[in-house]
Amino acid sequence: MKPIVFAMVAATAFCVCAAESIQLPEPDKTGGMPLMQALAERKSSREFSEKEVPLNVLSSLLWAADGINRDDGRRTSPTGLNVQDLDIYVMLPDGTYLWDFKTNQLLLKKAGDQRKAAGRQPFTHTAPVNLFYVQNLDKSMKTDETNTARHGGIHAGAVMQNVYLFCAKEKLSCVVRDSLDREELAKVLGLSDRQRIMIGQTVGYPKN
Ligand SMILES: Cc1cc2nc3c(=O)[nH]c(=O)nc-3n(C[C@H](O)[C@H](O)[C@H](O)COP(=O)(O)O)c2cc1C
Repeated sequence: MKPIVFAMVAATAFCVCAAESIQLPEPDKTGGMPLMQALAERKSSREFSEKEVPLNVLSSLLWAADGINRDDGRRTSPTGLNVQDLDIYVMLPDGTYLWDFKTNQLLLKKAGDQRKAAGRQPFTHTAPVNLFYVQNLDKSMKTDETNTARHGGIHAGAVMQNVYLFCAKEKLSCVVRDSLDREELAKVLGLSDRQRIMIGQTVGYPKN
C-alpha cells in the first residue's frame, strides 16, 4: 500500500471521530426536585468523576439552562429586550460543539479532546462536560459598551444558576468558572471578534 493511502486508512481507523452534529434526545421537562429543595442543595463542587453524562441528561440540562419554554420562542433564561444574545458551547471528551437551541443539536466546532483549553484548574481537563457562555455582540442590544458588557454578564448569570439548580436536582457536581485562558479558548470555540466568552461551567458526576 502506498504510504499516503496507508496514512488515510490509518487515520480513519484510529481517530476518535466526533460527529459533525449530534441530535440530542427530547429533554425531560417534567417532575424533578421541588424548587426550594434544589435551592437548598445548590453548591459549587470541584471533584468530578470521568464518567460521561448521558445525552438525555445533557439535553435536559441544556433545556433547563436556556431552552425554549414558550410558543413564541422565549427561553428559560431572560435577556434584556429578549435579544437572546447568549450562545452555549459544549466541550465534551470527543469534541467541542455549539448548542443549537432551536433544533436541540450539538454542532461540531472542533473535533477531538480539547479539554486542556477548558480552564486553568486541572479538574476541567478530565471532567466530562464544560459549558461556555458566549455573548454574540451582533445580537446584543445596540447600546454603549458598558451596558452591553453588563447585560452579557447578567444573561450568563441567569443561565449558570439554572444549570446549578438542574445539577442539584440531578445530583451532578458543578462549578462556574472565570479562571479561563479566553484567547486560547476562543480559538477552540472558533469565535469571531464579535463574540465574548462570559464564563465557563464544569459539570459531571461526583467523584465518589
Ligand atoms: C463570577 C464567578 C466566578 C467564579 N470563578 C470561579 C473559578 O474560576 N474557579 C472556581 O473554582 N470557582 C469559581 N467560582 C465559584 C465560587 O468560588 C463559588 O460560587 C463560591 O465559592 C461560593 O460557593 P458556592 O457556589 O458553593 O455557594 C466563581 C463564581 C462566580 C459567581
